[in-house]
Amino acid sequence: MEKAWWKESIVYQIYPRSFNDSNGDGVGDIPGIIEKLDYLKELGIDVVWLSPVYKSPNDDNGYDISDYQNIMDEFGTMKDWEDLLAGLHERGIKLIMDLVVNHSSDEHNWFLESRKSKDNKYRDYYIWRPGKDGREPSNWESVFSGSAWQYDEQTDEYFLHLFSKKQPDLNWENETLRQEVYDMMSWWLDKGIDGFRMDVINFISKVPGFPDAPNPEGKKYVSGAEYFMNGPKIHDYLHEMHKEVLSKYDVMTVGEMPGVTVDEGILYTDPSREELNMVFQFEHVDLDSGPGGKWDLRPLKLKDLKDNFTKWQKGLEGTGWNSLYLNNHDQPRMVSRFGNDKEYRIESAKMLATFLHTLQGTPYIYQGEELGMTNVRFSSIEDYKDIETLNMYKEKVEENGEDVNKVMESIYVKGRDNARTPIQWDDSEHAGFTTGEPWLRVNPNYKEINAKAAMEDENSVFHYYKHLIQLRKEQPILVYGNYDVLLENDEQIYAYTRTYGDEKLLVVLNFSSEHPTFEMPSHITFTSKQLIVGNYDVDEDESIDRFSLRPYEARVYKLS
Ligand code: NOJ
Repeated sequence: MEKAWWKESIVYQIYPRSFNDSNGDGVGDIPGIIEKLDYLKELGIDVVWLSPVYKSPNDDNGYDISDYQNIMDEFGTMKDWEDLLAGLHERGIKLIMDLVVNHSSDEHNWFLESRKSKDNKYRDYYIWRPGKDGREPSNWESVFSGSAWQYDEQTDEYFLHLFSKKQPDLNWENETLRQEVYDMMSWWLDKGIDGFRMDVINFISKVPGFPDAPNPEGKKYVSGAEYFMNGPKIHDYLHEMHKEVLSKYDVMTVGEMPGVTVDEGILYTDPSREELNMVFQFEHVDLDSGPGGKWDLRPLKLKDLKDNFTKWQKGLEGTGWNSLYLNNHDQPRMVSRFGNDKEYRIESAKMLATFLHTLQGTPYIYQGEELGMTNVRFSSIEDYKDIETLNMYKEKVEENGEDVNKVMESIYVKGRDNARTPIQWDDSEHAGFTTGEPWLRVNPNYKEINAKAAMEDENSVFHYYKHLIQLRKEQPILVYGNYDVLLENDEQIYAYTRTYGDEKLLVVLNFSSEHPTFEMPSHITFTSKQLIVGNYDVDEDESIDRFSLRPYEARVYKLS
């Protein structure tokens, strides 16, 4: 297998609004990130993925960009950004920027022009269609609820917005638009960045004609995903982007791709096809959703999680490359979702970290994950800020009269603000995030869970992450070794091996708060074993042919 720096790297995602506020306005900012660079260095990560810091009216916290080549006032200046890049590079840390080009803000100059008239030079940069039979051009639903089309009186047409109505979709069929995007990307790369995380990049090619999606239940709007996810020209566009831009630099690229399958994942990441290095897939974070989608809660079965990871690990092995994550700014906190954020918070956070750092692929740590930060339960909807959550609440509670408690429960479990509460730096007011009023309330558990306490405690989740990160640098088998699942049907234990040449690792993870027994499958043969990492004390002389695991215990053995 080809070696590459981006395969050996650990990525740390910063959601700037919630990271660290330097000027007391309650909003995290770039100088605030600079204050914490030594913290990142201490953790040992290699790459920072910075969520959008571009000019934006913040309808979707920066994922609605009104100027791709300027910095949002609340976050600082271009000079601050340049200092950030220099500060990271001085510490040997790379920077990848968020590239949000499925849509722009409706306040981007292109859109302001585009909406003026049908013959405006920028008209075709967006997707405009006349209405059909007195309603929207198609029955597609926006990811953030309601129709995906917005009527605009000025020219008596609708524009497409797969997300909020302030996020009009760009028209990738237009060659001039594509060239503008490529020029903008090159401009950032020439400033010295090390790559891009590409927002919903598999949505950029839509099926021509915008057909109505099948609607057997007669709903007002339906997803229409099959007409824009992995659309007809997606591979042409990504290949073109590679040729025009990416091939000229030594950079890392990761495509965020809801709805991507393993087969598609191979096409996107097979290096010989010259598209992307890796994709962020979503199947494993959809396993606890019912037929009604994200807010339709259902319990996660470990077997489903194993089958899914195994499918991706084996599917991309030897061809493509996986991204490894269990949470980000759009997902609930992983310890609350896949672990136990009450009596076994520390154990389960460490177990999940062991999982992510012992698979094949590039691990992504989302800010605060290294502290074992948890979900939050605000009693009032007024305390929530996320547009997806608020739109859903409005539709379900105010328009459809659904039960408030049920809807709030789904927000507690799945809402994106779970991940967006400010980083808990210490136990002072507002967790040391800001001296002002935070834009989103701090999780009340900050007195106990915070970076200062974690750094002082050598048994903390933070120190465990440091250790795992170091281990991955010392042991190429953790990066490149092949994965093979064991005990496929066990409902509590997730175990697998990694194999690299003559080396073998055994990973045993207890995903439960019980004491299941691990029994070594007979095909695993070895004469000696060495524990290389674990989250409990272990008697090294103990036989591992059969042993009992403690709640959320994780052990990684080197076998020889
Ligand atoms: C995915 C981003 O991660 C999410 O935060 C955003 O709301 C949508 N794409 C739209 O840009």
